[in-house]
Amino acid sequence: MKKELRKAVIAGNWKMNNTPSQTTDLINEMKPLVADADCEVVLCVPYIDIPAAVEAAKGSNIKIGAENVHFKASGAYTGEVSTDMLKEAGVEYVVIGHSERRTYFGETDQTVNLRSLAALNAGLKAIICVGETLEQRELGYTETLLKFQTKMALTNVKPEQLKNVIIAYEPVWAIGTGVTATADQADEGNGFVREAIAEAYGAELAETVTVQYGGSMNAKNADELVAKVNVDGGLIGGASLKAQDFSVIVKAASK
Ligand code: 13P
Repeated sequence: MKKELRKAVIAGNWKMNNTPSQTTDLINEMKPLVADADCEVVLCVPYIDIPAAVEAAKGSNIKIGAENVHFKASGAYTGEVSTDMLKEAGVEYVVIGHSERRTYFGETDQTVNLRSLAALNAGLKAIICVGETLEQRELGYTETLLKFQTKMALTNVKPEQLKNVIIAYEPVWAIGTGVTATADQADEGNGFVREAIAEAYGAELAETVTVQYGGSMNAKNADELVAKVNVDGGLIGGASLKAQDFSVIVKAASK
Protein backbone atom coordinates (compact mmCIF):
# COMPACT_ATOMS: atom_id res chain seq x y z
CA MET A 1 0.00 0.00 0.00
CA LYS A 2 1.43 3.32 -1.03
CA LYS A 3 -0.45 6.05 0.78
CA GLU A 4 2.10 8.62 -0.37
CA LEU A 5 0.93 8.17 -3.97
CA ARG A 6 -2.39 9.74 -3.09
CA LYS A 7 -3.34 13.20 -2.00
CA ALA A 8 -5.74 13.22 0.93
CA VAL A 9 -8.99 15.03 0.23
CA ILE A 10 -11.17 16.40 2.98
CA ALA A 11 -14.55 17.29 1.54
CA GLY A 12 -17.50 18.75 3.38
CA ASN A 13 -20.94 17.65 2.26
CA TRP A 14 -23.30 20.29 3.57
CA LYS A 15 -26.41 18.36 2.47
CA MET A 16 -29.52 20.60 2.76
CA ASN A 17 -27.99 23.16 5.08
CA ASN A 18 -27.05 26.86 4.84
CA THR A 19 -28.58 29.69 2.85
CA PRO A 20 -26.39 31.79 0.51
CA SER A 21 -25.67 34.38 3.20
CA GLN A 22 -24.86 31.68 5.75
CA THR A 23 -22.58 30.14 3.11
CA THR A 24 -20.61 33.38 2.78
CA ASP A 25 -20.25 33.70 6.55
CA LEU A 26 -19.18 30.08 7.12
CA ILE A 27 -16.60 30.03 4.31
CA ASN A 28 -15.16 33.35 5.49
CA GLU A 29 -14.79 31.81 8.94
CA MET A 30 -13.19 28.65 7.54
CA LYS A 31 -10.71 30.25 5.14
CA PRO A 32 -8.02 31.30 7.63
CA LEU A 33 -8.45 28.08 9.63
CA VAL A 34 -7.62 25.80 6.68
CA ALA A 35 -5.20 28.10 4.83
CA ASP A 36 -2.11 26.01 5.61
CA ALA A 37 -3.69 22.63 4.79
CA ASP A 38 -1.50 19.98 3.21
CA CYS A 39 -4.49 18.21 1.69
CA GLU A 40 -7.23 19.12 -0.75
CA VAL A 41 -10.03 21.05 0.93
CA VAL A 42 -13.44 20.89 -0.74
CA LEU A 43 -16.89 22.09 0.24
CA CYS A 44 -19.83 20.50 -1.56
CA VAL A 45 -22.82 22.77 -1.15
CA PRO A 46 -26.46 23.02 -2.28
CA TYR A 47 -26.87 24.32 -5.85
CA ILE A 48 -28.37 27.62 -4.70
CA ASP A 49 -25.31 28.30 -2.52
CA ILE A 50 -22.74 27.71 -5.27
CA PRO A 51 -22.33 31.34 -6.43
CA ALA A 52 -21.88 32.56 -2.85
CA ALA A 53 -19.48 29.71 -2.09
CA VAL A 54 -17.35 30.30 -5.19
CA GLU A 55 -17.20 34.02 -4.45
CA ALA A 56 -16.30 33.54 -0.78
CA ALA A 57 -13.66 30.90 -1.56
CA LYS A 58 -11.93 33.01 -4.25
CA GLY A 59 -8.19 33.31 -3.66
CA SER A 60 -8.24 30.59 -0.97
CA ASN A 61 -7.33 26.89 -1.03
CA ILE A 62 -10.99 25.86 -0.68
CA LYS A 63 -12.48 24.22 -3.78
CA ILE A 64 -16.22 24.14 -4.35
CA GLY A 65 -18.29 21.12 -5.23
CA ALA A 66 -21.94 20.33 -5.91
CA GLU A 67 -23.96 17.56 -4.27
CA ASN A 68 -25.28 16.00 -7.47
CA VAL A 69 -25.37 16.48 -11.25
CA HIS A 70 -27.61 15.23 -14.05
CA PHE A 71 -26.25 13.01 -16.81
CA LYS A 72 -27.90 14.74 -19.77
CA ALA A 73 -26.35 17.85 -21.26
CA SER A 74 -29.63 19.78 -21.36
CA GLY A 75 -33.33 19.30 -21.98
CA ALA A 76 -36.65 18.60 -20.32
CA TYR A 77 -35.43 17.44 -16.91
CA THR A 78 -37.24 19.66 -14.45
CA GLY A 79 -35.29 20.30 -11.28
CA GLU A 80 -31.99 18.96 -12.58
CA VAL A 81 -28.64 20.70 -13.18
CA SER A 82 -26.08 19.92 -15.90
CA THR A 83 -22.31 19.65 -15.90
CA ASP A 84 -22.01 22.81 -18.06
CA MET A 85 -24.07 24.79 -15.54
CA LEU A 86 -21.85 23.62 -12.68
CA LYS A 87 -18.62 24.29 -14.53
CA GLU A 88 -19.62 27.78 -15.59
CA ALA A 89 -20.52 28.51 -11.96
CA GLY A 90 -16.98 27.57 -10.87
CA VAL A 91 -17.63 24.07 -9.51
CA GLU A 92 -14.72 21.59 -9.61
CA TYR A 93 -16.07 18.60 -7.65
CA VAL A 94 -19.39 16.79 -7.48
CA VAL A 95 -20.75 14.22 -5.04
CA ILE A 96 -22.47 11.36 -6.83
CA GLY A 97 -24.56 8.50 -5.47
CA HIS A 98 -24.75 9.58 -1.85
CA SER A 99 -26.76 7.06 0.16
CA GLU A 100 -29.36 9.76 0.88
CA ARG A 101 -29.90 10.09 -2.88
CA ARG A 102 -30.03 6.32 -3.24
CA THR A 103 -32.50 5.96 -0.34
CA TYR A 104 -34.77 8.99 -0.77
CA PHE A 105 -34.50 9.91 -4.46
CA GLY A 106 -34.38 6.61 -6.34
CA GLU A 107 -30.72 6.77 -7.29
CA THR A 108 -29.53 3.41 -8.61
CA ASP A 109 -26.15 1.96 -9.51
CA GLN A 110 -27.05 2.68 -13.15
CA THR A 111 -27.83 6.36 -12.57
CA VAL A 112 -24.76 6.69 -10.37
CA ASN A 113 -22.72 5.36 -13.30
CA LEU A 114 -24.38 7.74 -15.79
CA ARG A 115 -23.84 10.75 -13.53
CA SER A 116 -20.23 9.72 -12.91
CA LEU A 117 -19.55 9.42 -16.64
CA ALA A 118 -21.14 12.79 -17.34
CA ALA A 119 -19.12 14.47 -14.60
CA LEU A 120 -15.83 12.88 -15.64
CA ASN A 121 -16.39 13.51 -19.35
CA ALA A 122 -16.98 17.16 -18.48
CA GLY A 123 -13.69 17.31 -16.56
CA LEU A 124 -15.28 17.51 -13.11
CA LYS A 125 -13.86 15.54 -10.21
CA ALA A 126 -16.39 12.94 -9.07
CA ILE A 127 -16.75 11.95 -5.42
CA ILE A 128 -18.65 8.69 -5.82
CA CYS A 129 -20.26 7.28 -2.68
CA VAL A 130 -20.62 3.59 -1.87
CA GLY A 131 -21.60 1.87 1.34
CA GLU A 132 -23.51 -0.97 2.95
CA THR A 133 -26.51 -0.86 5.25
CA LEU A 134 -26.33 -2.43 8.70
CA GLU A 135 -28.47 -5.32 7.49
CA GLN A 136 -26.13 -5.98 4.56
CA ARG A 137 -23.13 -5.86 6.92
CA GLU A 138 -24.74 -8.28 9.35
CA LEU A 139 -25.54 -10.67 6.50
CA GLY A 140 -21.87 -10.65 5.53
CA TYR A 141 -22.30 -8.83 2.21
CA THR A 142 -20.07 -5.81 2.86
CA GLU A 143 -17.21 -6.82 0.58
CA THR A 144 -19.49 -8.07 -2.22
CA LEU A 145 -21.61 -4.95 -2.10
CA LEU A 146 -18.76 -2.45 -1.95
CA LYS A 147 -17.02 -4.10 -4.86
CA PHE A 148 -20.23 -4.29 -6.89
CA GLN A 149 -21.15 -0.65 -6.26
CA THR A 150 -17.62 0.49 -7.07
CA LYS A 151 -17.41 -1.47 -10.32
CA MET A 152 -20.90 -0.43 -11.39
CA ALA A 153 -20.13 3.23 -10.74
CA LEU A 154 -16.94 3.00 -12.80
CA THR A 155 -18.37 1.10 -15.78
CA ASN A 156 -16.98 2.64 -18.99
CA VAL A 157 -14.80 5.06 -17.01
CA LYS A 158 -11.46 5.18 -18.84
CA PRO A 159 -8.25 4.43 -16.95
CA GLU A 160 -6.97 7.96 -17.62
CA GLN A 161 -10.12 9.37 -15.99
CA LEU A 162 -9.37 7.70 -12.66
CA LYS A 163 -7.23 10.66 -11.66
CA ASN A 164 -10.49 12.59 -11.32
CA VAL A 165 -12.24 9.86 -9.36
CA ILE A 166 -12.59 9.80 -5.61
CA ILE A 167 -14.55 6.98 -4.00
CA ALA A 168 -16.08 7.72 -0.62
CA TYR A 169 -16.79 4.65 1.49
CA GLU A 170 -19.74 5.66 3.62
CA PRO A 171 -21.31 2.86 5.65
CA VAL A 172 -25.00 3.82 5.72
CA TRP A 173 -25.26 2.89 9.39
CA ALA A 174 -22.57 5.44 10.26
CA ILE A 175 -24.06 8.44 8.44
CA GLY A 176 -25.50 11.08 10.72
CA THR A 177 -25.85 8.56 13.52
CA GLY A 178 -22.85 9.42 15.65
CA VAL A 179 -21.82 5.78 15.24
CA THR A 180 -18.48 5.89 13.46
CA ALA A 181 -16.93 2.86 11.86
CA THR A 182 -13.85 1.85 13.80
CA ALA A 183 -10.61 2.83 12.11
CA ASP A 184 -10.10 -0.85 11.23
CA GLN A 185 -13.60 -1.15 9.72
CA ALA A 186 -12.99 2.02 7.67
CA ASP A 187 -9.63 0.72 6.51
CA GLU A 188 -11.14 -2.63 5.58
CA GLY A 189 -14.05 -1.06 3.67
CA ASN A 190 -11.74 1.30 1.83
CA GLY A 191 -9.50 -1.68 1.09
CA PHE A 192 -12.42 -3.53 -0.55
CA VAL A 193 -13.03 -0.46 -2.72
CA ARG A 194 -9.38 -0.34 -3.72
CA GLU A 195 -9.40 -4.09 -4.49
CA ALA A 196 -12.42 -3.57 -6.76
CA ILE A 197 -10.55 -0.83 -8.62
CA ALA A 198 -7.52 -3.12 -8.86
CA GLU A 199 -9.67 -5.94 -10.28
CA ALA A 200 -11.00 -3.57 -12.94
CA TYR A 201 -7.91 -1.46 -13.72
CA GLY A 202 -4.90 -3.22 -12.21
CA ALA A 203 -3.19 -2.78 -8.86
CA GLU A 204 -0.81 -0.04 -9.94
CA LEU A 205 -3.56 2.35 -10.98
CA ALA A 206 -5.69 1.41 -7.98
CA GLU A 207 -2.92 2.61 -5.68
CA THR A 208 -3.29 6.11 -7.08
CA VAL A 209 -7.02 6.53 -6.45
CA THR A 210 -8.15 8.55 -3.45
CA VAL A 211 -10.57 6.57 -1.28
CA GLN A 212 -12.23 8.58 1.48
CA TYR A 213 -14.10 7.44 4.55
CA GLY A 214 -17.37 9.12 5.50
CA GLY A 215 -19.83 8.62 8.35
CA SER A 216 -19.79 10.53 11.64
CA MET A 217 -16.17 11.58 11.07
CA ASN A 218 -15.45 14.42 13.45
CA ALA A 219 -12.77 16.48 15.15
CA LYS A 220 -12.22 13.74 17.74
CA ASN A 221 -11.94 10.63 15.58
CA ALA A 222 -10.40 12.06 12.39
CA ASP A 223 -6.78 11.51 13.47
CA GLU A 224 -7.22 7.78 13.96
CA LEU A 225 -9.25 7.31 10.76
CA VAL A 226 -6.99 9.20 8.35
CA ALA A 227 -3.90 7.49 9.79
CA LYS A 228 -5.06 4.23 8.21
CA VAL A 229 -3.24 3.23 5.05
CA ASN A 230 -6.37 2.98 2.92
CA VAL A 231 -8.09 6.11 4.23
CA ASP A 232 -7.17 9.07 2.05
CA GLY A 233 -9.22 11.71 3.78
CA GLY A 234 -12.91 11.99 4.44
CA LEU A 235 -16.34 13.08 3.32
CA ILE A 236 -17.72 15.05 6.21
CA GLY A 237 -21.38 15.83 6.88
CA GLY A 238 -22.32 17.38 10.20
CA ALA A 239 -18.81 18.42 11.22
CA SER A 240 -18.38 20.37 7.96
CA LEU A 241 -21.04 22.81 9.14
CA LYS A 242 -18.75 24.02 11.95
CA ALA A 243 -15.61 25.91 10.95
CA GLN A 244 -13.54 24.84 13.95
CA ASP A 245 -14.43 21.15 13.77
CA PHE A 246 -13.88 21.05 10.00
CA SER A 247 -10.47 22.70 10.35
CA VAL A 248 -9.38 20.14 12.95
CA ILE A 249 -10.23 17.36 10.48
CA VAL A 250 -8.31 19.16 7.73
CA LYS A 251 -5.32 19.40 10.07
CA ALA A 252 -5.53 15.68 10.86
CA ALA A 253 -5.32 14.88 7.13
CA SER A 254 -2.41 17.30 6.67
CA LYS A 255 -0.02 15.41 8.95
P1 13P B 1 -22.06 12.73 8.81
O1 13P B 1 -20.63 13.17 8.87
O2 13P B 1 -23.02 13.80 9.27
O3 13P B 1 -22.29 11.41 9.46
O4 13P B 1 -22.40 12.54 7.26
C1 13P B 1 -21.53 11.80 6.49
C2 13P B 1 -21.93 11.96 5.09
O5 13P B 1 -22.97 11.48 4.69
C3 13P B 1 -21.07 12.73 4.20
O6 13P B 1 -21.47 12.61 2.89
